Amino acid sequence: MLEEIERNEFDHNLSLNISQKLVRLFKKRRTTRTYSGEKIPEEIIDNAIQVAASAPSGANKQPWLFCKVSDPILKNYIRVLSEEVELDFYKNKPNQKWLEDLSHLHTNEDKSFINDASHLIIIFYKNIDKSNGEVSKNYYAKESTGIATGMLLSSLHLSGINSLTYTPKNMHYLNEALEIDKEYRAMMIVVAGIAPKQYQVPLIDKKGFDEVCKSFS
Ligand SMILES: Cc1cc2nc3c(=O)[nH]c(=O)nc-3n(C[C@H](O)[C@H](O)[C@H](O)COP(=O)(O)O)c2cc1C
Repeated sequence: MLEEIERNEFDHNLSLNISQKLVRLFKKRRTTRTYSGEKIPEEIIDNAIQVAASAPSGANKQPWLFCKVSDPILKNYIRVLSEEVELDFYKNKPNQKWLEDLSHLHTNEDKSFINDASHLIIIFYKNIDKSNGEVSKNYYAKESTGIATGMLLSSLHLSGINSLTYTPKNMHYLNEALEIDKEYRAMMIVVAGIAPKQYQVPLIDKKGFDEVCKSFS
């Protein structure tokens, strides 16, 4: 299929065929919260980041930064800090409605997937750019970085890698752990790895096409 796409020209039947295959492939993507410990080749992660960094961005400001972490000691440090935040979220200062909405996913303050995943890709964005001695605005920085994150997830999925979009409620600790300047805000931890063979995803429903699309043709 990729060879067909590389031809980069519109052909009615070919494009239809590719779009149908993509629907089938993307419907197989599911969030993975348990990992086998298997290592992913670095180049696959780097390629996924390159895909993400090719994303469109407001005024082409490319407001993102992708930090990849595979060092076991640093991953464990991030787990410890994450679980402190999660303990507040789940136990010390719970928001009952939010926890109710999450209950079908069976998540809790245990974030052992951070150790067992191959890589964490921590995604930062910045609203203001102060490099080169000038101050310039990054337009739609968060939206642009969200699009780049979607492309990262797609690239991982199509490369056979499982992932989780992990968003602890407060992510300031990630700047400190990775020594990233405070002008960058952490937006998400993309956890990437390989699920154990017997891993079962939670049963969830997806909205039907007619619920998410209104046609005005
Ligand atoms: C912005 C965003 C934040 C999320 N944060 C978390 C999270 O912190 N922990 C978690 O276990 N799942 C998280 N998820 C995963 C969602 O729970 C998951 O995408 C949803 O239940 C649908 O399941 P699926 O990805 O398997 O289709 C997040 C997803 C998104 C898009």
